[in-house]
Amino acid sequence: MIAIGCDHAGIDLKPAVIEVLEELGLPYRDFGTFDHTSVDYPVYGELAARSVANGECELGILMCGTGVGIGIAANKVHGVRCVMCTDCYSALMSREHNNANMLAMGARVVGSELAKMLVRTFLTTSFNGERHARRVGQIMTLDEGGTLQG
Ligand code: RB5
Repeated sequence: MIAIGCDHAGIDLKPAVIEVLEELGLPYRDFGTFDHTSVDYPVYGELAARSVANGECELGILMCGTGVGIGIAANKVHGVRCVMCTDCYSALMSREHNNANMLAMGARVVGSELAKMLVRTFLTTSFNGERHARRVGQIMTLDEGGTLQG
């Protein structure tokens, strides 16, 4: 299951995201928003992020005007590693090296065709593990309030 969430500024990318999910045959849960009425992006970022953190959804896709705000909000949820991407190399490496579990995009930044490439790349790339697992583990130590400083 893939989580999707957006605010009023990100909603214009939602059809492109759903098109890729359907193309890949991946079921999804849409946490809203569902129209252009102005809303607060942290609310929808949290809803989708909690579904990833609790295991209901394996990965998530978020959209706001820039991808920045909703991504920051998602990253405040314990267990979430959300990456804001505007290029496919970063989307690819965020999965291979960082085991990112959420992708955030800005509808005022990327067009629908680039958004589709970003989503397709993110959802079809696996974590490489090995040395990267140690580093992601260190990130999760920080996420849990720990320190890496001895
Ligand atoms: C909404 O106007 C806008 O601030 C929001 O979508 C997002 O871009 C924030 O980071």
